[in-house]
Amino acid sequence: PMAPVHCFSVIDSTNQYLFERVNQLSSGESCLAECQTAGRGRRGKPWVSPFGCQLILSMYWRLEQGMAAAMGLSLAVGVAVVEALESLGYPGVELKWPNDLYYQGRKLAGILVEMSGSAGASCHLVIGIGLNLAMPSQQGEKIDQAWSELRHVQPELVDRNQLAACVLLHLQAAMQTFEQSGLASFVESWNRLDYFAGQPVKLLMGEQVIRGIARGIDDRGALRLETDEGIKVYLGGEISLRRG
Ligand code: BTN
Repeated sequence: PMAPVHCFSVIDSTNQYLFERVNQLSSGESCLAECQTAGRGRRGKPWVSPFGCQLILSMYWRLEQGMAAAMGLSLAVGVAVVEALESLGYPGVELKWPNDLYYQGRKLAGILVEMSGSAGASCHLVIGIGLNLAMPSQQGEKIDQAWSELRHVQPELVDRNQLAACVLLHLQAAMQTFEQSGLASFVESWNRLDYFAGQPVKLLMGEQVIRGIARGIDDRGALRLETDEGIKVYLGGEISLRRG
């Protein structure tokens, strides 16, 4: 059975809404909005979410494995969302490590997983997704990177309620699979969808820059880079394409 979905026209942040209520929620409970006034992105950045232009969605999940598993979980979320889009007839969407959705080299959607709890015990997770559907061009100027939208993938957009339901069902199924078998059952799919696969990339970690060829992810969700000293794995950092 589907858990309750809390719908809003305008909200500060759908992630925030669920985060404030974690003790009253059950896994799978979700929040949807048309617009956010304080949408949150990764790395403390704001997330631009103008009225009616995105799928803005968050889902609560109580993770029995505890916080250590959350990194892998965020990669599983990326796979679930791409597969939901594929099932609706949107082909060609890829993943940029760790969990951005990309279409033809431009960001289509972002995922923010926030958590609370203590190490070792089960923890509260809020999984947030912002997916561009059809953005007004003036709004797009506020975004600090190359972006895409779902109508570029397929000009005829499916009904937004249908899209929301499909993403929620795929997410819920993915979380159940993740609880049973961890990231392992997603690695093959993730690597199939890898936007950077086989490309020369650089990984920015603080002041440090690591250069290599992207070779997918391992069972923990770590990025595999083929460097001069062989394959190395990284759990953090910001990846980008290396030109020249
Ligand atoms: C990123 O920086 O790529 C992650 C963006 C995540 C945005 C979504 S929109 C729904 C949910 N609520 C938020 O405040 N953020 C996430």
